[in-house]
Amino acid sequence: MSRPIAALGIVGSPREGANTDTLVTEVLRGAEGAGAATRKLFVGKYEISPCKSCGGCVKTGRCVERDGMDELVPLLDENQVWVLGSPVYWWGASAQMKLFVDRWFAPWANAETRALFRHRVAVVVTPLGDTDANVARHTTGMFADIFAFLGIPLAATVVAPNVGGSGLAAGADVLKFPEVLAKAREAGRRAVEMAKT
Ligand SMILES: Cc1cc2nc3c(=O)[nH]c(=O)nc-3n(C[C@H](O)[C@H](O)[C@H](O)COP(=O)(O)O)c2cc1C
Repeated sequence: MSRPIAALGIVGSPREGANTDTLVTEVLRGAEGAGAATRKLFVGKYEISPCKSCGGCVKTGRCVERDGMDELVPLLDENQVWVLGSPVYWWGASAQMKLFVDRWFAPWANAETRALFRHRVAVVVTPLGDTDANVARHTTGMFADIFAFLGIPLAATVVAPNVGGSGLAAGADVLKFPEVLAKAREAGRRAVEMAKT
């Protein structure tokens, strides 16, 4: 029997139980329904140094920094489905998420380690306070362009507007939008089906 698809949820908000976390959890629920083994992490809990653009990774595919990415890169490798969740912070992705994604440069920089990006499927979820979903366009556009560049199919992008304008309200406003949660679950199911083919 083949091994089940593994899906990794990466929460780019520091707020546990809030909107990004809830959306990522729903995607993973959908993935589990399609038979995937899932795991979720808060990327802000890992110490990640910013990419220094030193070029030290080019020969080896390994960053010169020894930090949380030493744990995170193997996790990316073990999971076929990558669920990236970032709130909109000042029209863009959160700093926690951007630090993480910038460090993908190391495995990408070397032909051998670039295999990390093969046979993956991505899902992106993005909550924002504004009622206008278009305010998320730089965040969703960044991920769309990154995954297109890496040749990773994006199963779905789920945008959740009107959830926590200040970013400081407790809890998960997104729970008030069951249609968005359903979209997130469907995204997870779809990603796993895509990963199976
Ligand atoms: C530093 C910061 C910047 C934010 N910038 C924006 C923004 O530019 N546009 C917007 O619509 N919401 C913005 N928000 C609101 C968050 O995107 C929104 O509350 C989101 O649901 C937070 O996700 P979380 O609940 O998972 O932490 C910002 C919140 C914070 C804390």
